[in-house]
Amino acid sequence: MDLYLIHWPRPMRDDYLTIWRAFAEIAESGRARAVGVSNFQPAQLERLLAETPLVPAVNQIELHPKFPQAELRGIHARHGIATEAWSPLGQGRGLLDDPVLARVGAKHGKSPAQVVLRWHLQLGNIVIPKSVTPSRIRENFDVLGFELDADDLAAVAGMDNGTRLGPDPDEFDIS
Ligand SMILES: NC(=O)c1ccc[n+]([C@@H]2O[C@H](COP(=O)([O-])OP(=O)(O)OC[C@H]3O[C@@H](n4cnc5c(N)ncnc54)[C@H](OP(=O)(O)O)[C@@H]3O)[C@@H](O)[C@H]2O)c1
Repeated sequence: MDLYLIHWPRPMRDDYLTIWRAFAEIAESGRARAVGVSNFQPAQLERLLAETPLVPAVNQIELHPKFPQAELRGIHARHGIATEAWSPLGQGRGLLDDPVLARVGAKHGKSPAQVVLRWHLQLGNIVIPKSVTPSRIRENFDVLGFELDADDLAAVAGMDNGTRLGPDPDEFDIS
């Protein structure tokens, strides 16, 4: 397989280092081309980096303009870990109705979703928007022909309200 991720750190079980060492064996054997993690918080990532030699290729995390994850993106940048955004459009809920996105989109002739996807790309994120609607899937690909300027980026940065849509990885257990 191309990329194999630990889905959640489940810190209350204290077993993610053991699992990561097994992932390292899987990578070494060639069964996965790359291995990484998902939903790892700064403390879990720092511990993994301090106590095991293999650096994750990617950390897939909840990330959108209302929850831009600056601290984790900084850690990723320092260690060469790719940032992959899940729910990058805020699950298509209230985020895309924000007037800031409408205003920036009108300036460039683009939709709010295209502004958000372009913002991700300019931050250096890998972005995986989900849509079952063919016209939206086409729209979501069409984000390479324009650029957000410093004012646009500052406006989108102002949308940060520190709120998650999904579970807190420090508390979430999955069986
Ligand atoms: N690692 C993890 O723990 C984790 C957790 C959650 C999600 N994920 C992954 O993240 C990916 C995407 O996340 P997500 O599905 O939660 O949220 P998302 O991609 O942020 O949003 C999907 C929603 O946005 C709508 N949408 C898509 N494009 C649009 C557009 N151009 N204009 C308006 N609305 C649009 C979709 O509607 P329609 O489909 O009706 O078009 C859908 O309701 C999925 O592949 C998922 O597997 C990973």
